[in-house]
Amino acid sequence: MIRGIKGVKDILPAEIARWHTMEATARRLSHLYGFEEIRVPIFEVTELFARSIGATTDIVEKEMYTFEDRDGKSLTLRPEGTAGVVRAFIEHNLAALPTPQKYYYFGPMFRHERPQAGRLRQFHQFGVESFGTTSPLADVEVIALLWRFFEALSLPGLTLEMNCLGSPDDRQAYQAVLLEFLKRVEDRLCQNCRRRTGTNPLRILDCKVPACRDATEGAPKLTDHLSPASSRHFHEVLAGLTTLRIPYVLNHRLVRGLDYYTLTTFEVTCSRLGAQNAIGAGGRYDGLVAALGGPPVPAVGFAVGLERVSLMLPDSIVAERAGWVFLAAFGEKGRPAGIDMLYSLRARNIRADTDYRSTTLKALLRQADRAGARFAVILGDDEVEKKTAVLRDMVTKEQEEVPLPTLPDLLAKRLRPEP
Ligand code: HAM
Repeated sequence: MIRGIKGVKDILPAEIARWHTMEATARRLSHLYGFEEIRVPIFEVTELFARSIGATTDIVEKEMYTFEDRDGKSLTLRPEGTAGVVRAFIEHNLAALPTPQKYYYFGPMFRHERPQAGRLRQFHQFGVESFGTTSPLADVEVIALLWRFFEALSLPGLTLEMNCLGSPDDRQAYQAVLLEFLKRVEDRLCQNCRRRTGTNPLRILDCKVPACRDATEGAPKLTDHLSPASSRHFHEVLAGLTTLRIPYVLNHRLVRGLDYYTLTTFEVTCSRLGAQNAIGAGGRYDGLVAALGGPPVPAVGFAVGLERVSLMLPDSIVAERAGWVFLAAFGEKGRPAGIDMLYSLRARNIRADTDYRSTTLKALLRQADRAGARFAVILGDDEVEKKTAVLRDMVTKEQEEVPLPTLPDLLAKRLRPEP
């Protein structure tokens, strides 16, 4: 037997109502907030990710699914959505449109991480990207959308963590201060962090190894080294959240695993998720469009890990399916009349199905029960003669005889139509 790939999950029909609920909520709220859907490819040239996410990040160094295609070109399955959206934004000259451009997307992302609960090698994100304004109100808007999305899904135990990474100049100045500090504690750092002092020292603040956390406890904070403009931006974002009654905590260790961020970064964690507790995250990336060869357009966005949301989603929130009808048709005349009725009901927007394998009433009703039908329509040769059908309520087990022509109307009244 050929098995699926480690860390790559099938989403079976039993789970699909959860996904429909998450997707419908994401779409509804995105539209309310003025975002339009964008669909970009799941693979791109490798250089796009190396240049946007950063050559020395874990994602680019260790986690990408990179391969050569038959033309010898290096391609990569996208590890995240922002880079592709920015590439499309530049390529289609969307900056020339007169209004700020706000997009949302869904789709699979690929990272070769060590699989565990809530961490997969193919996972799905709902993300948004808002281009065109440096206003802190744009940061507030995407964070509000993220928070309302989680609220609408009644996710328990959430914390919004906020940080500001400053401008590239702020960061460069701070990096010197940080390195000075790190030199004093270097022998207490893990192997990986020692290497990072030469490549990406900020990431050391984010290391999960307890000894590294202890060693960096007293590290100088980036938010104490911001320029007046960066500091003002951060405070306006926080004030905007307070106005909208969105609770947050400050986390000066929140440096994120992608290098394109400037100013605001944020992450929502869920206390019930265990080690992989980040359920959604994002930030501002004012330099990325220009760095990839586009005009100097600022942007801010987030992405949510839908597998992690699904793990937390209360059953009561999952949209209940509309009831449906099982055609229990048998006999020489009953069967074709049943097929006729099957398509008449579907044409009336009523979900209807049957089991072509079963030929006896007993077997058909057993299938109707197992498959969870709300009603069964019993149609044998006798019923066809009388131009009637027997309508069986699968919950109460009550039966009534109904004239065939009136059956679709009656069922339409008794069942909620499919959306
Ligand atoms: P990220 O923090 O790398 O950001 O990923 C966002 C979310 O995707 C995480 O908070 C987590 O819920 C989920 N996620 C990440 N890796 C995995 C995995 N291996 N298995 C399951 N879920 C995972 C980004 O991807 C940025 N593009 C977000 C962004 C958009 N920033 C600005 N715009």
